[in-house]
Amino acid sequence: MALVIREDIPAHMADLRAWLDETRGTPLEEMRDFFTARIDGYEEHMSPWAKAYEVAAEMLPEDCAPLLDLGCGTGLELDAVFCRFPALPVTGIDCCETMLSKLREKHAARALTLRCEDYLTADLGGELYGAALSVESLHHFTPAQKALLYRAIFRALRPGGVFLNVDYLACCDEEETVLRAECDRRRAAQGIAPGQFVHFDTPLTVPHERAILHQAGFTRIDTPACIAGATFVLAQK
Ligand SMILES: C[S@@+](CC[C@H](N)C(=O)[O-])C[C@H]1O[C@@H](n2cnc3c(N)ncnc32)[C@H](O)[C@@H]1O
Repeated sequence: MALVIREDIPAHMADLRAWLDETRGTPLEEMRDFFTARIDGYEEHMSPWAKAYEVAAEMLPEDCAPLLDLGCGTGLELDAVFCRFPALPVTGIDCCETMLSKLREKHAARALTLRCEDYLTADLGGELYGAALSVESLHHFTPAQKALLYRAIFRALRPGGVFLNVDYLACCDEEETVLRAECDRRRAAQGIAPGQFVHFDTPLTVPHERAILHQAGFTRIDTPACIAGATFVLAQK
């Protein structure tokens, strides 16, 4: 069955354009500050994706140990992963210490190594992990940033390992183009330096994600599901 990201693309694009107009003058927030300021309501805000977290945990292969989680946040996907694999060793990387503190509180007894780092520049190692997972985190980056990251993930996986990315992907070229242009415009208007991370969604389309994964070395790439706008991209080393 063909992957459906949005049931009604024209209606989705009309809503998106209206939202971009409404928020035209809203200042961009730095990534860590954005999540720190919203920590109290964060898990409730993500509740529409409860099913996506469950399915992500189900899709991990049996031999996924140890697991690398990029942008683990408060660990909503890990809540589901630990239900299936209670003793799984996991390394979680996130640049927001406030999000990681909450995850630490929830899963103090797990085999969890948490690193407060930027995953784009973190050393992910070589052939260490059975699987890498990322949920709702990578839709803020450019193709060039993703190309480097996906290569690092490919290197970090053992042969046969999988990378499961569950994320907001663009439903059409127009969505990708409009959001990238608006992000660039807002960054320029605020004088934001190129290396500074801000919270503004710049999803890529499925073909663009696949091309970057393919260039990184992944050979088998599938898009098995989309749940509440979160597209599952499963890539095998
Ligand atoms: C929407 S939250 C998703 C968190 C968790 N995966 C979930 O689904 O609830 C995005 C997370 O990615 C983290 N993040 C964004 N860019 C990052 C980067 N370059 N390095 C590390 N973490 C990053 C943010 O701090 C935040 O915790």
